[in-house]
Amino acid sequence: MTQKVVILGSTNVDRFLSVDRYAKPGETLHVDQGQQNYGGGKGANQAIATARMKADTTFISKVGQDGIADFMFEGFAEAGLNTDYVLKSDTADTGQAFITVDAKGNNMIYVYGGANMTMTPEDVEKAASVIAEADYIVAQLEVPVPAIIRAFEIAREHGVTTILNPAPASTLSEELLTLIDVIIPNEFESEILSGIPVEDEPSMKKNVDYFLNLGVKVVLITLGERGTYYATKETSGLVEAYRVKVVDTTAAGDTFIGAFVSRFDIAAMNIEEAIDFANKAASYTVQKSGAQISIPWLDEVEPKE
Ligand code: RIB
Repeated sequence: MTQKVVILGSTNVDRFLSVDRYAKPGETLHVDQGQQNYGGGKGANQAIATARMKADTTFISKVGQDGIADFMFEGFAEAGLNTDYVLKSDTADTGQAFITVDAKGNNMIYVYGGANMTMTPEDVEKAASVIAEADYIVAQLEVPVPAIIRAFEIAREHGVTTILNPAPASTLSEELLTLIDVIIPNEFESEILSGIPVEDEPSMKKNVDYFLNLGVKVVLITLGERGTYYATKETSGLVEAYRVKVVDTTAAGDTFIGAFVSRFDIAAMNIEEAIDFANKAASYTVQKSGAQISIPWLDEVEPKE
């Protein structure tokens, strides 16, 4: 069965710089390579990842009139992504992210939201019929919360499963938290929401209980190279990550989410299988530089015999 997925989120042009190490405040450092521009944005990355895993994917997003994100549309089309609801803002420029990656593959990201931050509940209404027909809708926090709430309300009215990746980390209103079926934070994002640091297994369980008590059905806390901890009211466990040489972790989380939603079946609750597939897909992304450019295709993750 091909999943129908709607991704609501940001489109950014990533201004990418590779450095040996991070400069200290006040220090000037030479770099060997000039700045690269890549397709990015947590929404666009997750949409590309979902579409490359062969789910039927629609992307709701907003860019400026400046045309700087035009180069990304070729990649969207190549992945078979429906971009009918990628709108153009009359007032704001396309979002941009300023990313530095050091020799160990760590990244630092500054995001200028631009057009992403002009997304309104009315914009989301334009895609109401596609949301209503989807199996899953996924959002992150690089577009305004009122737009996400409207999308999740439409989803709930039509029995569509809602998935929130609460990134970048932020506190959230109960209005949004109670509209979530599946939440996928990393440790830090989980702590910001629950107020409980993730330090060991008991504190992990307390984090999970915080979300389950709000009515969330499935909680996945991503733990980087340690894998992913998952829980429902009935079960919990850890699915280990794949060990590979890390070049750049940018968009690894986005790949994980896109691959997970392409494989997850909430009726069958095949959580471990979907996480393992998502971990495998993300292990390809960390071996290359850049966001969309490093996201694998289904054939790479599961080569045909
Ligand atoms: O998750 C990675 C993404 O975060 C980058 O592509 C950047 O645009 C920021 O949104």
